[in-house]
Amino acid sequence: MRSYKSLYRSSLESHPNHPWPDATREAHLRFWEDSAHFLDRKWEERILSGVLPEARRALGKHLNLTRPDDIALAPNTHELVFRLVSALPAWGKRPVRVLTTDSEFHSFSRQLALWEEAGQATAQRVPTEPFASFPERFLQAARSGQYDLIYVSHVFFNSGYVFQELKELALAAPESAEVAIDGYHSFAAIPVQLQEVGERCFYLAGGYKYAQAGEGACFMTLPPRAQALRPKNSGWFAAFGSLSEKREGSEVVFPNDGFRYAGATFDPSGWYRFNAVMRLWEYEGIDVEAIHSRAMTLAKRLIENLEWPGLVKTGHELERQGNFLAYELPRAAQVHARLAEQEILTDFRGNRLRFGFGLYHDVADVDRLCVALRKLDSE
Ligand SMILES: Cc1ncc(COP(=O)(O)O)c(C=O)c1O
Repeated sequence: MRSYKSLYRSSLESHPNHPWPDATREAHLRFWEDSAHFLDRKWEERILSGVLPEARRALGKHLNLTRPDDIALAPNTHELVFRLVSALPAWGKRPVRVLTTDSEFHSFSRQLALWEEAGQATAQRVPTEPFASFPERFLQAARSGQYDLIYVSHVFFNSGYVFQELKELALAAPESAEVAIDGYHSFAAIPVQLQEVGERCFYLAGGYKYAQAGEGACFMTLPPRAQALRPKNSGWFAAFGSLSEKREGSEVVFPNDGFRYAGATFDPSGWYRFNAVMRLWEYEGIDVEAIHSRAMTLAKRLIENLEWPGLVKTGHELERQGNFLAYELPRAAQVHARLAEQEILTDFRGNRLRFGFGLYHDVADVDRLCVALRKLDSE
């Protein structure tokens, strides 16, 4: 297996938030140069005309989406989720009816709980476990209910389970519902095919994890039907190109591309870094298939060498596993802390310890992790 360690100066993590490759340093400095040189004109001269279109093209390529202009950008997915929900015809008129799961990330689950408390939403949550029956249970719920929004992860953050039935979901969803897929753990981690699914569903993700771009570079791909919706949460960047000032006696106008779901002033440096990573991958001949297969090789090695109880099994032979493994351990926080002392960075959610695998790992790193974990076991 080829080593990519020379592309990074930090590589000791075992975590879904991947380190930034060194190529992002020059990109980050270029952002500074552009800001210092062009001042406010940087938006026209560099960002809107060069950086963001390049990022959208790369997103389109990696997601197999042929409409890169129909990608909304924002600093985080929470902002995009809120904007999407504010665009639903029911928003502000009656509680929004939501179908989701019990395993969504906090950016959505916390917000949904608050909407419920405020009487702005009602929710049905399908448990993800047992995983074997999840696709059928979720699709059945999608078919049988009257929903305004269906929100589900592609890869679940607390297990790594991959919900592969996105096409089936797009077909099962009632016409009344918008369908949103949280792709934070699938984008740049497992191959994603949006050529059909993206025509019906929204897909949200960001650059903080597998795309190695750091904070601030999140996006949402729009299905064509998104252009008929009017987000009530809308920032002035949605006015670019459409002269959408509220005029006397007329409605606010929205553009018919990704800017329809835009917010307001944001730090665009994440998109400079994102473009640098995409260029690096192109130069090195790296694609998402290769990244996923490397992660699975390393995950198998950890499972086979460690023989630890508590592995959250998502199905047969890692066929439905994202690029990390989750272990259910009563002492997850303790193990996380002890590994950190040895500069092995993991993360945990409740009792679940997560080991992420990426380009920056070699087999030797997994072996080192196994040694460290066995030592902890024997203490
Ligand atoms: C499944 C999932 N969705 C979304 C996010 C990020 O959310 P936000 O961009 O709102 O911070 C994460 C981050 O860990 C995640 O695991």
